[in-house]
Amino acid sequence: MLMRDLKKIIRELEEKILAALNKAQTEKEVEQVRLDYLTRQGPVAQLMNRLKTMEAKDKKVFGPLLNDLRQKTSETFEQRLLQVKETERIALQKKKTLFDVTAYKPKTLYGSLHPYSYVIEKIENVFISMGYAIVDSQEIEDEFTNFEALNIPADHPARDMQDTLWLDLPDRLMRTHTSNAQIRHMQQHKPPLAILSSGRCYRYEATDATHDYTFMQTECLMVAENISMANLIAAIKAFLEALFEKKDIKMRVRPSYFPFVEPGIEADMQCIFCTKGCSVCKGTRWIEIGGAGLVHPNVLKACKIDPEKYNGFAFGFGLTRLTMLKYGINDIRVLNSGNLDFLRQF
Ligand code: DAH
Repeated sequence: MLMRDLKKIIRELEEKILAALNKAQTEKEVEQVRLDYLTRQGPVAQLMNRLKTMEAKDKKVFGPLLNDLRQKTSETFEQRLLQVKETERIALQKKKTLFDVTAYKPKTLYGSLHPYSYVIEKIENVFISMGYAIVDSQEIEDEFTNFEALNIPADHPARDMQDTLWLDLPDRLMRTHTSNAQIRHMQQHKPPLAILSSGRCYRYEATDATHDYTFMQTECLMVAENISMANLIAAIKAFLEALFEKKDIKMRVRPSYFPFVEPGIEADMQCIFCTKGCSVCKGTRWIEIGGAGLVHPNVLKACKIDPEKYNGFAFGFGLTRLTMLKYGINDIRVLNSGNLDFLRQF
């Protein structure tokens, strides 16, 4: 090799090593440069070895050149190592000071539907699909709509069954049932009509685990020509299956009395929680659902609908009780409380 070339090689090697060190950003990368160039078997050492075999005059030239190379590269290596160590230390410290061990990340709170909203939505979806109108009615009601039009005159003993919260206003009370929705709707619509109306009712009652002065009911009414008990039973079944999200719920009806229907019935469903009798059905395999029947002609008349031409069915079920059954809730007060610990379970 010509000595002129050797000078070039030394220069290029130096440039290469310095560039590599400059590029190295971590301790590991700097160490890699050392392993590549500065070990005893590395290119710098190899060049130094060649000094031994050189003639004296070349040694004079290349000795200092190679010494410079070795010194410069190893010094730069040491410096660069210190630099990156320092940079890494600062970065780590910064990270540490940014990490706040007292920081508190609240759990994400998700909203959920109240059990009432959930079951009402389920039921309404099914009844809408069957062509029913979903209607709202008022909670502050007059005596005619809540009682008289429903064939419950003032002296009727049925009034005693529904202890009423009267308001300090003339002829105003808190509705005792959702049946007022029947009257309000029939006063404004002609048959054929079919409605479902859910909402809050009020009774003058002492509160305990199964009674509250306020509770929810769902009322259903259909008025058309030739409505039969079979139509009623089909509607009740659809209602139960929507509410309990179960198919083929078995039910039975028993004769009963409500002034606004004739005949009146009480519906029971076969217990869906057991096969042999349980605490929910009290061992009977049947669960009471609520009242129903074929609309009394007096009710139609009160709404100026001709009972000779039209008839209908109605049912009114305690949605509070049914929701409690569905979810196994044993205290009505928690359902109405707005207690978040309770509601978060849904
Ligand atoms: N309104 C009744 C109550 O609150 C329930 C009821 C019974 C509603 C029979 C009806 C029905 O529509 O046909 O006790």
